[in-house]
Amino acid sequence: ERKLAVAIDGPAAAGKSTVAKIVAKKLGYVYIDTGAMYRSLTYSVINNQIDINDVDVIMNHLHEIQIDIDADQQVFIDGENVTDAIRKDEVSKNVSAIASIAEVREEMVKRQQKLAEKRAVVMDGRDIGTHVIPDAEVKVFLIASVEERAERRHAENVNKGFASDLEQIKRDIKKRDKMDSEREVSPLKKADDAKEIDTTSLSIDEVADTILSLVNNEM
Ligand code: C5P
Repeated sequence: ERKLAVAIDGPAAAGKSTVAKIVAKKLGYVYIDTGAMYRSLTYSVINNQIDINDVDVIMNHLHEIQIDIDADQQVFIDGENVTDAIRKDEVSKNVSAIASIAEVREEMVKRQQKLAEKRAVVMDGRDIGTHVIPDAEVKVFLIASVEERAERRHAENVNKGFASDLEQIKRDIKKRDKMDSEREVSPLKKADDAKEIDTTSLSIDEVADTILSLVNNEM
């Protein structure tokens, strides 16, 4: 049986990670959340009061810290568990600025490509099909209306016991999509050969099954 790379891209809160985890589990593949890598750096930059415009200091910092993501998607910076901390508003609001830095992306993409080298991976992000694994055997681009995405994220927050404001989430999602789509280096964009899936009226399982059937076609 062939081992493949599955690239899942799309805008904020489109359900990429939820679906990617299911697909990875079904296939026995490793799930790699590239957003968590950008979020971890952003969290650490804020935490250390580094100027988010100071590229040199940010790059030195990136090389100094150790970011680890384990098989259960627990995220560690220098051994400290930051899994919940990297999802907080403060990080979400600043991550697109950090992720727009060319030097940061170059280093992160290098790390991600190494993780995908041996295949058997499901990787989600913004530029996986276009830049990180342009030769991925399966590429999908998940979309959903802003309303739907905001409502899902809101429900997720409420579930986790986080404070949550639906209108604020909508504004933040729109702003992040705009920054991610308009940045100069590897912007959020559907790869020409990616299959677009509008998840607005689909269940999580329906989206996962659609991706799994694409994978089966390649095996
Ligand atoms: O996927 P998630 O919403 O956690 O990603 C957080 C942010 O990280 C995105 O809004 C984007 O700015 C950045 N990102 C990126 N490229 C990726 C994954 C995430 O620029 N491959």
